[in-house]
Amino acid sequence: MTQRILLLTGASRGIGHATGKVFADNGWRVLTLSRQGFSPRCPWLGGPENHIQLDLANVEHLEPGLEEIRRRLPEGKLDALINNAGISPKGPENSRLGVLGSAYQTWLQVFNVNLFSTALLAKGLIDQLAAAKGSIVNVTSIAGTRVHPYAGAAYASSKAALLTLTREMAAEFAPLGVRTNAISPGEIDTAILSPGTAAFADREVPMRRLGKPVEVANAIYFLCSEAASYVNGTELHINGGQHV
Ligand SMILES: NC(=O)c1ccc[n+]([C@@H]2O[C@H](COP(=O)([O-])OP(=O)(O)OC[C@H]3O[C@@H](n4cnc5c(N)ncnc54)[C@H](OP(=O)(O)O)[C@@H]3O)[C@@H](O)[C@H]2O)c1
Repeated sequence: MTQRILLLTGASRGIGHATGKVFADNGWRVLTLSRQGFSPRCPWLGGPENHIQLDLANVEHLEPGLEEIRRRLPEGKLDALINNAGISPKGPENSRLGVLGSAYQTWLQVFNVNLFSTALLAKGLIDQLAAAKGSIVNVTSIAGTRVHPYAGAAYASSKAALLTLTREMAAEFAPLGVRTNAISPGEIDTAILSPGTAAFADREVPMRRLGKPVEVANAIYFLCSEAASYVNGTELHINGGQHV
């Protein structure tokens, strides 16, 4: 059987790192994409050779990166695209950036990384995804559906829009044989969290704890597997019941 190939954005730490590991452990080739060079903390086979260094905030300059990705797909097939890279800017002393505190540049940067790059990566790789009958997973957030004490206005709006984009992709790409879904994490123990989130989870999450990155990674893997072959256009909540 030919080795399946995944393109994973934001793999250097957190949820992305755990996701790369789960796919690699299951025999996939993992192409990674992030702003920094390959992180030596990601120990999967062929990691450094399969890394593409690209800043998703520069969406105008995505095309050379897309060409590089296509060059790395030997049979012109991509089995999965996971749009996981995301940013959640904070104000001074980690304060929440509301509408009044958010500059246009903040909105632009957040939307470029969290939303526009997702649409453009999918557009640029749709032939390769269709050739493999592959699937796309977009990483949204619980902040996309409710006001959150730490996530800011631009971040929350971008994640709400990403869920809408997931719906659009699911309808447009399914006839090409490509499934699109979203996973929506709650409070997962990564560098993106603000101080105080563990205590917040203890109060607000029915399971009374933070989630682990691997618990999100396993759900992403399910959505890209044969076990989810008729799942399209859904958003899976991975949050210990925080959304109920
Ligand atoms: N942790 C949570 O509780 C939580 C909750 C809800 C949703 N999420 C979502 O889950 C996803 C992963 O979050 P995380 O907690 O694992 O975050 P994280 O630990 O901060 O990791 C973010 C990743 O995105 C990459 N990235 C950031 N800006 C980028 C850019 N301009 N271009 C390319 N790559 C970029 C980073 O790599 P470089 O720094 O090398 O670029 C890093 O690998 C995000 O979409 C986030 O919104 C997380």
